[in-house]
Amino acid sequence: MSANIAEMEKRRSAAKLGGGQKRIDAQHAKGKLTARERLDVLLDEGSFEEMDLYVEHDCVDFGMQDQKFPGDGVVTGSGTINGRLVYVFSQDFTVFGGSLSARHAQKICKVMDAALKVGAPVIGLNDSGGARIQEGVASLGGYADVFQRNVLASGVVPQLSLIMGPCAGGAVYSPAMTDFIFMVKDSSYMFVTGPEVVKTVTNEVVTQEELGGAITHSSKTSVSDLALENDIEALLAARDFFDFLPSSNRDDVPERPSADAWDRLEPSLDTIIPPSANQPYDMHEVIRKTVDEGEFFELQPQHGGNIIIGFGRIEGRTIGVVANQPMVLAGVLDINSSRKAARFVRFCDAFNIPIVTFVDVPGFLPGTDQEHNGIIKHGAKLLFAYAEATVPKITVITRKAYGGAYDVMSSKHLRGDLNYAWPTAEIAVMGAKGAVEIIFRGQDADGIAAKTKEYEDRFANPFVAASRGYIDEVIYPHSTRRRIALGLRKLRNKELENPWKKHDNIPL
Ligand code: HXC
Repeated sequence: MSANIAEMEKRRSAAKLGGGQKRIDAQHAKGKLTARERLDVLLDEGSFEEMDLYVEHDCVDFGMQDQKFPGDGVVTGSGTINGRLVYVFSQDFTVFGGSLSARHAQKICKVMDAALKVGAPVIGLNDSGGARIQEGVASLGGYADVFQRNVLASGVVPQLSLIMGPCAGGAVYSPAMTDFIFMVKDSSYMFVTGPEVVKTVTNEVVTQEELGGAITHSSKTSVSDLALENDIEALLAARDFFDFLPSSNRDDVPERPSADAWDRLEPSLDTIIPPSANQPYDMHEVIRKTVDEGEFFELQPQHGGNIIIGFGRIEGRTIGVVANQPMVLAGVLDINSSRKAARFVRFCDAFNIPIVTFVDVPGFLPGTDQEHNGIIKHGAKLLFAYAEATVPKITVITRKAYGGAYDVMSSKHLRGDLNYAWPTAEIAVMGAKGAVEIIFRGQDADGIAAKTKEYEDRFANPFVAASRGYIDEVIYPHSTRRRIALGLRKLRNKELENPWKKHDNIPL
């Protein structure tokens, strides 16, 4: 008994040291925390319960039988974040570069299975050189086992990936199939093949940072939803973010007390729309003045800035916000913004999060670049996502709602539950000048001006749409929060089901 206790303590101490003090020092020297230190920041103090600490790899090739580390490069288990259960795995770069062996994969699969069984989110802290090269196909199999679980868990429990080191090969595909990815600036990278391979195959010379750093992936590719300054900031952001998420698709959104009155009026919104239709204003202000305590967790702020997505709360309950941003490209819908918002709408729908949409959109972006890169298919993603969503949908048109973009942005026709318009709303096929230049082509400047005025008088308002019932009510901007709060109360027991199908066929 006492011998076993001594052995247990010995193994526990060994596990805590990962790949050894020298490698821990190297990790710290790069500004990175160790796998265990990260879990200490992520989880409530003392809440972590580890599993599989004694697991070791079974590889005997390349002298691996003499190199064993308890835990085999990944710390797994469960804990809580502000009291709510979460399953976690944290890869240990000090053990074979956090690379994934068959046993390492088995540990990750075990926590994923446990999370699915009880309906709890999974957070993965990724810091891995990919498949454990010494293990060959065994590690590839391990990856596939993880991928399979990522897919089965998708839409059942939220999955969040934090990328906290160089992640290559298989180490990027598992995060890519999770719901959200946060990266750490200057120390995390994601690529299928690293700079060396790129150079060999394509002759391109590129740094890790340029190829797959946090800035690249949160601005250019949108692989990452957020780029944080360092490990601590990323882990604290993950804690805040977690508080918005339901535990599973069977759970309601989390609710927390709010000191912000549900019927707070916001008079400053009555003057936020500039006098000229071409002048921008910041839609963030509208969002922040609407949600509880002005707290808005924005995702992908550096990518597709013409649409804003993120989570807020009304009466303490999570809402997903989608909003056109007039400050960027006049809020137009293009490929990036359509893809960005579509995936977010689908996440909200999968996890019973009501969607509040603020609309100020001049239409789809014209041009060969957009057309040749498939705006038809990408724009259709957002249309499809809104149309299939059955969660409560509340829409507020603040200014422009032109053309197809009017239809797309959670319109009444796509089963919007409550569609409001501010008095400044303009709901039409297109802007007055463009419309007149098409239907009255050939007229002189005076004629065009007169017809433009006539078109504006007729359509630059919310009343034509309201007279058809496409808008439920024209509301004062200052009452927006109150209206949304009332609407969400009403819709809390909403029931709506799509026809039975195996799954849909969203234009991917
Ligand atoms: C085994 C690995 C490893 C791996 C790193 N190490 N990657 N061991 N398998 N895949 C070990 C190193 O030998 C080293 O061990 C320690 O981890 C740290 O690695 P360094 O290279 O010293 O660190 P760094 O300079 O920071 O570079 C990190 C790195 C680089 C960019 C991740 O190590 C790298 O390029 N690794 C290989 C990446 C790769 O090609 N992976 C396979 C992808 S294929 P010591 O003992 O010195 O501490 C794949 C297939 C799945 O994943 C596909 C599914 C779709």
